[in-house]
Amino acid sequence: MPKDGSVVRLDGQGKPLWLVLELTYRCPLKCPWCSNPVDYEHCHDKELSTEEWKRVLREGRELGALQLGFTGGEPMLRDDLEELVGEANRLGYYTNLITSGVGLTEERLVALKAAGLKQIQLSLQSSDRELTDSLVGARAFDLKIKVARMIKAHGFPMVLNVPVFRHNADQTADILALAEDIGVDYLEFANIQYYNWAMANRDELLPTRQQLEAAERGVQVARERIGDRMTIYFVIPDYYEERPKACMNGWGSIHLTVAPDGAALPCQEARLIQGLDFPTVRERSLAWLWNESPTFRKFRGDEWMREPCRSCSEKEKDFGGCRCQAFLLTGDAANTDPACGRSPAHHLIGEAVARAHAPGRTVKPLVMRTERAAREVLEADRG
Ligand code: FES
Repeated sequence: MPKDGSVVRLDGQGKPLWLVLELTYRCPLKCPWCSNPVDYEHCHDKELSTEEWKRVLREGRELGALQLGFTGGEPMLRDDLEELVGEANRLGYYTNLITSGVGLTEERLVALKAAGLKQIQLSLQSSDRELTDSLVGARAFDLKIKVARMIKAHGFPMVLNVPVFRHNADQTADILALAEDIGVDYLEFANIQYYNWAMANRDELLPTRQQLEAAERGVQVARERIGDRMTIYFVIPDYYEERPKACMNGWGSIHLTVAPDGAALPCQEARLIQGLDFPTVRERSLAWLWNESPTFRKFRGDEWMREPCRSCSEKEKDFGGCRCQAFLLTGDAANTDPACGRSPAHHLIGEAVARAHAPGRTVKPLVMRTERAAREVLEADRG
C-alpha cells in the first residue's frame, strides 16, 4: 500500500507475476508490425550485461515474479541466453522463450533444454513461403518450419504465435492444418495491436470485419474438431469491438517488462507515452521501480480515471482499456481508450477503419522495420 493509502492493485496480490525481459532490440527480421519502439537504435549500445540481467532475475523472484519471458528483438542474438535461462531456472521461474526461430540451432536448443527452459513461443506469419519471406524481409519460412519441428522433437511445449493482419487473415485454415501437422500445443492467432511499427502501417495491415468474422468462425469449427489435442486462442482485435481490452490486466498490476537498456516498463509499449519517466534497473532496485516509481503508480487502481471510466460498472473488468492506445489516439494516456464504445473519442477508431478500407485508396508499400525507415517515421511524426 502506498503511503497515501490509495489502491495500488486490482488483482489482489500486488506482485509482478509476469516478468518480461527484452534482452535486445536487435533482430534479423524487418516485420512491419513489430511492437519494438521505432527509435530502437538508441538501445543497441546500452544493453544490460549478463550480470545485470542476473540481478534483475534475483530481484524479480524476491518480488514474487513466477512467469518469465525472454524476448526481444530476437533473444537468440544474445549469446548468454543459455546462462540466463539456467539462472532463472535455478531461481524457480517458469521460463518461456519468445523467438522468431532465427538463430535457434539444434545445438542451442539442446543447451537451452539442459539449462531448464520450459516452453517456447515461435512466431509464424503465414502458411505461404513467399508471403512469409516478403512480410519479414528475409528467407525465413523454411527455417521457421524446421525450427518448429525441432522444438517438438526435443519435447518442448510449444506456442505457435500468428500475428493476424489483412495479408494473412484468410489463411487460418491452412495455418491450422500446418500447426496440427507440426504437433503444436497452443496456437495463438493474435490480432496485431496498432502501436509503433504497426501504427505506421495501420492502413495497410487492418483486416476487414468480414475477414475476421470468417477467421473466427473457422477457428471455432477447428476447436470442435481438434478438441484437447491443441488449444487455439483467437485474440480479438479491439478495433472491431465495443469494449476495450483489459490491457496488461491493468497498468502495474501483474506485468513488469525490463527493456534492453534496463528501463522498467508497465507494458512493452509504455515508452511511447510522452511525459512519463522510465528509470532503469541500473539506477534503482526492481522493488523500488515496481512499488514506488511514479510511472508504475500513475495508472494503478482507479484513482486516475476520468469519466466515463470512473463511474463505469465495467472498470474492474477492463481498467479503462489501454493507456498506450489512449495516448496514441487522443494525446492523453488518462483518457478512456477510444476502442471503448463509451469513449467520446470512439469515432477515431471507426474513422481509422473506414480510411483503411476506403474504396479506391492508394495501396502503399509496407514500412519495414529498418534503421532508415525508422528515421523517416520519426521525422514524419515530428513534422
Ligand atoms: Fe501499454 Fe496497453 S499497450 S497499456
